Amino acid sequence: MKKIAVFVSGGGSNFIAIHRQIIQGNILGKIVMVFSNNPNCGAIKFAEENSIPIFIINAARYPNAHTRDEFLLETCLKAEIDLICLAGFMKMLPQNIVKQYEYRILNIHPGLLPEFGGKGFYGTRVHEAVINTGKRESGATVHFVDEIYDHGPIILQKKVEVMETDTPESLAARVLKLEHELFPEVVKAFCENKIIMENNKPKILEYNEN
Ligand code: GRF
Repeated sequence: MKKIAVFVSGGGSNFIAIHRQIIQGNILGKIVMVFSNNPNCGAIKFAEENSIPIFIINAARYPNAHTRDEFLLETCLKAEIDLICLAGFMKMLPQNIVKQYEYRILNIHPGLLPEFGGKGFYGTRVHEAVINTGKRESGATVHFVDEIYDHGPIILQKKVEVMETDTPESLAARVLKLEHELFPEVVKAFCENKIIMENNKPKILEYNEN
């Protein structure tokens, strides 16, 4: 059973989707802690209601960045975390964590990376850019995290059609629905040791598209 730490900043619908699959017994893992920079977000409320230990990591609580980063790493090491999931985490993960957990940190992005990724491409801005550039297709991406925003190796993507009538909001809603399938699927594969690196690219073993 893999021990999972989830990092959140917002509503937490991806976190909730993963949690649900765990409760239903589809994922061989357990969310043992939730980290957030935002004590008032919906994700933290959900963690509280479900008795999942919460850690608020922000500059208000830890003014010294070095102390903050050290505390974060120590906490993850002590809890023997196997997997870190960034589920709508709006901060850059400290480098010490990125180094320590290479190929063990997943991020979900609401677009088809490598397009529409990187600093400044988050939330509605991704969907606005997709619509404004006339793309017929968008989707969601789960990738391993490295030291650059939205840059690490892509594990899995799912696509949606962009409609003529789409607004950034309607597209966001369709992509988010897809994210709730995609992210748990990748977490499940990770927990079953089915994600391997082959020629520097992640591959999901026995992956069945449907
Ligand atoms: C998602 O769109 C995700 O792709 C992005 O942030 C959003 C988080 O939504 N990284 P939620 O907090 O999981 O509802």
